[in-house]
Amino acid sequence: MILSKRALSIKPFIAMDILEAAQKLSGQGHEIFNFGLGEPDLAPPEGIQEACIEAIKNGDLKYTHSQGHSSFRNIIAQFYNKNYGVEINPDCIIVTSGTSPAFFLVFSALLNPGDEVILPNPYYPCDLNFIEYLGGKAIFLELKEEENYAWNQKKLESLISKKTKAILLTSPSNPLGTIASPSLLAFLAHLDIPIISDEIYHGLNYVEKDRSMLQFSKKCFVINGFSKSFGMTGYRLGFTIIPPHYVDAFRKIQQNFFISANPFVQAAGAYALTHCVPDLEIRKKIFQKRRDLMIGLLSEMGLAVRYHPLGAFYLFVDTSSINPNSYELAFQILNKAHVATTPGIDFGSCGEGHLRFSYATDEKKIKTGMTALKNFLKKT
Ligand SMILES: Cc1ncc(COP(=O)(O)O)c(C=O)c1O
Repeated sequence: MILSKRALSIKPFIAMDILEAAQKLSGQGHEIFNFGLGEPDLAPPEGIQEACIEAIKNGDLKYTHSQGHSSFRNIIAQFYNKNYGVEINPDCIIVTSGTSPAFFLVFSALLNPGDEVILPNPYYPCDLNFIEYLGGKAIFLELKEEENYAWNQKKLESLISKKTKAILLTSPSNPLGTIASPSLLAFLAHLDIPIISDEIYHGLNYVEKDRSMLQFSKKCFVINGFSKSFGMTGYRLGFTIIPPHYVDAFRKIQQNFFISANPFVQAAGAYALTHCVPDLEIRKKIFQKRRDLMIGLLSEMGLAVRYHPLGAFYLFVDTSSINPNSYELAFQILNKAHVATTPGIDFGSCGEGHLRFSYATDEKKIKTGMTALKNFLKKT
């Protein structure tokens, strides 16, 4: 078998390994309580599926402009204007099949071999894989639970070198559910380094109105998508908003590697932004209630959730007293209690000793799954 060094060095996405093991157990007839994946159980708001089907029936089945239908890009620009008060030229938007290809576009456009990207640790696992696969090197800004996972600005400055090509910020964050403060956003905006702002968990901020990096800097690269707040994971729809002078280079990468996002899925996205934004408030309240329920149940079994997430739908819990090896513990819990979680080590060295519990699942399953976990813990 011939494999490139690049292909050989890519690390597995452990959350998917757990999912596959969980599916195997489920195939053997076991009920699995899935707190592993960041995939909302709630169906997308009403009308989105119909808009997609309608577009297919109407023959919206051809390649679109490589950057996406201009009507859809206008709607995205209007959404950013209404939500964040920022003016965006629709020509600076590139519609992608999920946010993941948007990461590919941004990192492949910005990085030469050996270039550095500052990444908080813990991080979303694919971030590191994108950076390394595309020849870059991640420099970690270590976040500490005892500091509420806040970014230390002095420490961040000390990590900046001549090779730093970007800083990646995800707010609300996965796996922590932290939210960047306005002072952090202002600080980042004043650094002379491109900020890549992953805004995929916008719409799931429990404490305040979402803030886009674009409100602080016109030079940033925004990445966003429909998988989380709208629950449209399988539709595969996202976009990036980039500074005007980068558009030609990005368009060439998009044309060559992806051609365009699916036209009928763009129609679904247009419907979502035009008609379904009020639904997001209701969905957010459901997640918030589940968050509180899960925190309560974990605390009752002696697993204190020291950091209460302010956004997204994950609890990042210190489980080092049960087993400091999070990979081992996640598989133990899966095999013995049939509860799927994601080992903290998937999110980097600073995540070791933790498990990530996703509460993108209904209350009944949360209650039953937590009882199964409690019983497992009693026996260990
Ligand atoms: C922080 C973050 N960014 C991006 C993604 C990828 O999402 P998409 O489904 O749009 O590719 C995820 C998915 O879990 C995520 O957690």
